[in-house]
Amino acid sequence: TLTWTELCAADAVGDGAHKAFFIGTKRLCAVNHGGVFHVVDDLCTHGVAYLSDGYLDTDECVLECPLHGGLFSYHDGCPKGDPAEKPVRSYETRIVDGVVMVAL
Ligand code: FES
Repeated sequence: TLTWTELCAADAVGDGAHKAFFIGTKRLCAVNHGGVFHVVDDLCTHGVAYLSDGYLDTDECVLECPLHGGLFSYHDGCPKGDPAEKPVRSYETRIVDGVVMVAL
């Protein structure tokens, strides 16, 4: 079952920006695209690099890994460009009273 957990204030990430957050030891990358939040695991599945340190492309809806340029959809975590092969996990989100909640 999903546990809705507080991630951050909805104004903690600007529209068109992305940022890392921790829930316990879990490191997540939150993307704000047009006021809608998308959350995926921050650690790349290809190597040791964080997607929150890379480029956010809101036209293609992808995060680009800063280490080798692998691309991941921030909607579902699916790999969208080499050398990314395995998806990063993605999480459902919702905003309640100005707080971004994530389903873990
Ligand atoms: Fe992310 Fe290689 S570590 S693409």
